[in-house]
Amino acid sequence: MADTKRYGMVLDLNVNGETRTAAIRPADLLLDTLRDSFGLTGTKPGCRNGDCGACTVLVDGMPMKSCLMLTVEAAGTKVTSIEGLHDTEVQRAFVEKFAFQCGYCTPGFIMNIYALARIHPDADQATITDWLQSNICRCTGYEEIHQAVVSVLGRLSSAECLSVKP
Ligand code: FES
Ligand code: FES
Repeated sequence: MADTKRYGMVLDLNVNGETRTAAIRPADLLLDTLRDSFGLTGTKPGCRNGDCGACTVLVDGMPMKSCLMLTVEAAGTKVTSIEGLHDTEVQRAFVEKFAFQCGYCTPGFIMNIYALARIHPDADQATITDWLQSNICRCTGYEEIHQAVVSVLGRLSSAECLSVKP
């Protein structure tokens, strides 16, 4: 039985297609609940200020910086973390184009680009540049990341879209 005196509330969340239960405090961030309560450490803490994008997840299919979202705000939504994507076109493109170095920013980029490819499969350069602005790579691998985006756009099959559990 969760310690509600200490944590304040118990919440059910839909994460990667499964219902998970967490004992949380009202001020807990989705980023911390994913990592600390559910062990989904692929979602990375960076700036914790909404600037770097390392913590990006999908909430009802839209990219969201999980350091800017309270866990309670995720109630009733479908959250997808990097662990919810398996061998997608985006991940394959990152490997093919060597679009990572240390890899710390990579999960956030992949979540954001996955959403871009689903929502704007015919994105032009301006749209790609606009979307990539929400993620920072401290290894400055932007050229390879850009190449990965270009290679994946239009390749994301509808079957693959449906296989994701946003
Ligand atoms: S940790 Fe969330 S945007 Fe940097
Ligand atoms: S690959 Fe190191 S921060 Fe992007």
